[in-house]
Amino acid sequence: MRSHYCGAINESHIDQEVTLYGWVHRRRDHGGVIFLDLRDREGMAQVVVDPDTEEAFAKAESVRSEFVIAIKGRIRRRPEGTINKDMPTGAVEVLGKELTILNASATPPFQLDGYVDVGEDTRLKNRFLDLRRPEMLNKLRFRSKVTSYIRNFLDGQDFMDVETPILTRATPEGARDYLVPSRTQPGNFFALPQSPQLFKQMLMVSGVDRYYQIAKCFRDEDLRADRQPEFTQVDIECSFVDENTLMNIMEQMVREMFHDLLNVEFSSFPRIPYSEAMAKYGSDKPDLRIPLEFTDVADLVAPVDFKVFAGPAKDPKGRVVALRVPGGAGISRKQIDDYTKFVGIYGAKGLAWIKVNELEKGAEGLQSPIVKFLGDDVAMQIMSRLGAQNGDIVFFGADKAKIVNEAIGALRVKLGEDLDMFTCKWAPCWVVDFPMFEETSDGGLTAIHHPFTSPACTPEELKASPESALSQAYDMVLNGTELGGGSIRIHDGEMQKTVFGILGIDDAEAQEKFGFLLDALKYGCPPHGGLAFGLDRLVMLMTDSQSIREVIAFPKNQSATCMLTQAPGEVDSKQLRELNINIRKSAKEES
Ligand code: AMO
Ligand code: AMP
Repeated sequence: MRSHYCGAINESHIDQEVTLYGWVHRRRDHGGVIFLDLRDREGMAQVVVDPDTEEAFAKAESVRSEFVIAIKGRIRRRPEGTINKDMPTGAVEVLGKELTILNASATPPFQLDGYVDVGEDTRLKNRFLDLRRPEMLNKLRFRSKVTSYIRNFLDGQDFMDVETPILTRATPEGARDYLVPSRTQPGNFFALPQSPQLFKQMLMVSGVDRYYQIAKCFRDEDLRADRQPEFTQVDIECSFVDENTLMNIMEQMVREMFHDLLNVEFSSFPRIPYSEAMAKYGSDKPDLRIPLEFTDVADLVAPVDFKVFAGPAKDPKGRVVALRVPGGAGISRKQIDDYTKFVGIYGAKGLAWIKVNELEKGAEGLQSPIVKFLGDDVAMQIMSRLGAQNGDIVFFGADKAKIVNEAIGALRVKLGEDLDMFTCKWAPCWVVDFPMFEETSDGGLTAIHHPFTSPACTPEELKASPESALSQAYDMVLNGTELGGGSIRIHDGEMQKTVFGILGIDDAEAQEKFGFLLDALKYGCPPHGGLAFGLDRLVMLMTDSQSIREVIAFPKNQSATCMLTQAPGEVDSKQLRELNINIRKSAKEES
């Protein structure tokens, strides 16, 4: 048995006999004395083996990095001048008397100390080694603290932890499903849940009243730094509550957790209507740490001859915005070219700009490729609307509103980072008053949250103008990342059918896909609502990590492959036959 973790020894143990287990992090030969840095999950201890203890010394000479060993020895104070203040165990060392090699190790494919730039796929392929790195282990440990904190909080508020199925039917959250073929029903498939949404609503019908689950969700979608095909939600649902009560409980949980785990104080979260978020930041997950805002100028540029601006200004689906960057006139032409390329990723066809050099001189004091097209008067009207000052740069986006919002919204964040404009470390908020629907590229409507979200109006009003109807949905946003989202749900069958109808799901399809929901709504469904947090995103932000892959023990890479196990993999033909599945030859050849 170990007597202590390596990372736990300190001056209070001086003169004690200890037994440590761990991995050899580093071995150093120092003129006849061997130093071993021994590592376990709690940290590192320095072990000294001198030639007097012959047997231990011989073994110490033979160990290599990542060998697993046991050490018996005595703790002593390190000699004056060799104390390492940066190490929690740095005042002491273990004088090793007995050394047992428990297992050897091949040379690791990358160094575990002073971790350098190996590709992420190499790290993921050898994740069992990558996770040995203290930085990674600490992230796992922190994640475990977060989940236990959340469980404690919700248990304390009378929420009940209930598990829901993984093999189920499609649960529409807007992504593609992962399907699992049924052996017993040839040609039929289970879908893995995109979220436990409908089950948690069923639990409300059952009278569970307050439910939570730390639930695995599966979505076959394009991957980014904050998305994984398999991820974890803190999923919550509650009966007999309104939006306010729900948001308050969730906000309290997040506020107390940041206080207790990170010593960060949040005041109450601002609530920003969706329309305001889009108007000011072009995004429904605004990063409020960055003090830059859009200003609409379509009315000023609609009359000018410059088609690049006048076209979108006159198009009902177009938008023309200016983004004033105080003190940004020092941005070079080369940087502007780079920003132009950057907004191009989001579909912008260019990036017009005006540098404000000497406002006292009127339009003469502006430097820009577009003032000549706008005319001096319009240019100065824009300056006055923006409250421009000498030394500013103003960027412009003109296109379909969606493109302008995405392109200039992303530019706003990039400028904030590049020019280090952050006004604070943490900026949480709620985004509220979402529309029920948004238009799809083919002119139809799709639910902004999901089809079970309650509108903030009657079924008649909803039918009359679905495009302008608002929902009772809310998102919690932190530093420009959507941490969680939820809503008050529809608890009335007629309203649910109305929403399905608007989404183009007719009665027969609704019955086939969601008959169980429509049935449940018939038998005394309480008013209810809830929310789900993305646990991985929460932990990513709390640990200051660059991607959610850093806080998931065994994540998939950007192409949705598990590098460690090489999943997804082939299956043998017998298994396929049992499942009544025939793989098209061409599909195999293509992949
Ligand atoms: P939503 O689809 O907004 O809502 O998901 C809730 C939260 O889950 C996280 N999330 C993800 N995290 C990592 N990888 C992904 N691919 C991914 N997709 C989503 C986000 C998001 O805010 N059933 C509803 C919740 C409800 O209405 O109660 C739902 O799933 O942080
Ligand atoms: P052009 O007349 O196309 O050379 O454009 C003149 C200026 O307007 C250049 O600085 C372009 O980068 C910019 N520009 C072009 N299209 C757009 C657009 N859709 N939004 C904002 N600026 C644009």
